[in-house]
Formats: sequence, structure tokens, C-alpha cells
Amino acid sequence: MSTDDKKILVWDAPVRVFHWLMVLSFAGAYLTAESERWRLVHVTLGYTLGGLVAFRLLWGCVGTRHARFANFVRGPAAVLRYLRSLLNEPPEHHLGHNPAGAVAIVLLLLSSIVIVGTGWASYNSVGGNWVAEWHEGASAFMLAVVLVHVAGVAVSSLLHRENLVRAMVTGNKQGSTDHGIDQGNEQGIKRPWRVLAIVMGLAVLGFWWLQWRGAP
Ligand code: HEM
Repeated sequence: MSTDDKKILVWDAPVRVFHWLMVLSFAGAYLTAESERWRLVHVTLGYTLGGLVAFRLLWGCVGTRHARFANFVRGPAAVLRYLRSLLNEPPEHHLGHNPAGAVAIVLLLLSSIVIVGTGWASYNSVGGNWVAEWHEGASAFMLAVVLVHVAGVAVSSLLHRENLVRAMVTGNKQGSTDHGIDQGNEQGIKRPWRVLAIVMGLAVLGFWWLQWRGAP
């Protein structure tokens, strides 16, 4: 990496808080799915996932540059071109999500919607057996997409020689002419939107408190 690398703010704080709370909610709900004793935790984390996805759908329309769906969801031709470019040196680089990663992101959001909808219906005895079957099927599907997503993040971090996980924590990527991504800070975002992220965190904590107070 060249010495004139500069930090570019790519992920706003709400996207980062959304991401890690989504990881926590999905993992926690998945691990507590089979147990009657942990039912309230499972349901609460499921509703949290629903709230997070609702926020992300809205933020994907009105949020910062790299959070907006219009700026990273691409058609099959762009996905194939990106995947093919991984065999070249240097591979095609995107400061925000790459087109293949975007496919996983869309699938993760869509499967979350199916999981939360069928989970709510099943918990409230709406619909028949098929509802529970879809709930289980969509959860297994989402787990598979998560595994592909994590593998994709690892491969793309290696090929582009950039730490994508750190970027999802700090919000920053390094811009350098070496990577072909240094087109100036105008590619980054101006504000981290920290206050909104704090409000999100507090809303989630408040919801958990409401759900769990008085639980045995
Ligand atoms: C339950 C597990 C997970 C789910 C549901 C999930 C979901 C997502 C979603 C929806 C995004 C898009 C973020 C946005 O634009 O709002 C994303 C991006 C990302 N995730 Fe995950 N994720 C999971 C696990 C992980 C784990 C374990 C890691 C780290 C090893 C990780 C690393 C990343 C990174 C680095 C990005 C940004 C990728 C890029 O630079 O384009 N994710 N994830």
C-alpha cells in the first residue's frame, strides 16, 4: 500500500450498527430456535431483525451514497463481469459493495422478511403447517447465504488486499492509487450519522428491556 493512502469514509454509522445487530439477531435467533425455554429470546431477536430490515429498506432509499440500493444493486451482466474480473490482476474494484456481494445482501434482506413474517404468523397461530415449514426453510436458506457472504468477504478482502471487516467496524477504507480506488474524498460520504446510530441502538435496547422485564 502506498504511503499517500488516505482514509475514505464509506459506511455510515447506522449501516454499521445495522450490520452487527443483524448478525447478533440472526445468530441468536438461530441458536435459540429449538428451545421452548428460550422462546421469548428467539421471538424478540426475530422482531429485532424485522425492525432492522425495515430500517435498512428505508435507508437504502434515502441514506448515504454507498448505503443506497440504487448505487450498488446491479443486473446479472455486472455481477458476471465482476466475478470474471476476479481472475485478472487487478480485479474490478468497488469502493462500496461489489455487484456479487450485493446479490447476497439482497438475498439476506429478502430471506429475513420471509423469516420474520412466517415467524410472526407461526407464533400467533396464523396459517397452517406450511407457515412453520417456510419459517424453517427460509432460515436454513439464510444460513447458507450467510456462509457464502462470509466466504465472499474473505475472498474479496484477500484479492483486493483490503480489510473489509475492519471497514464495516470503522466505516473507513484506505484510498490509494495502488488499488485504483483513489478518486478523491468526493467518493466517500461526508457525515457518519452517529446520532441516528445511537438512536437505533437505544431503540433496540429499549425494545429488549420492554420484552424481557419481568420474564422469569
Ligand atoms: C448473520 C450473519 C450475517 C448477516 C445476516 C450479514 C448481513 C450483511 C448485510 C445485509 C450486509 C450489507 C450491509 C449494508 O449495506 O447495510 C453485509 C455486509 C458486510 N458484511 Fe455481513 N452479515 C453477516 C455476517 C458477517 C460476518 C460474520 C462478517 C465478518 C466476518 C461480515 C462482514 C461483512 C462485511 C465486511 C460487509 C461489507 C461487504 C462489502 O464491503 O461490500 N458479515 N452483511
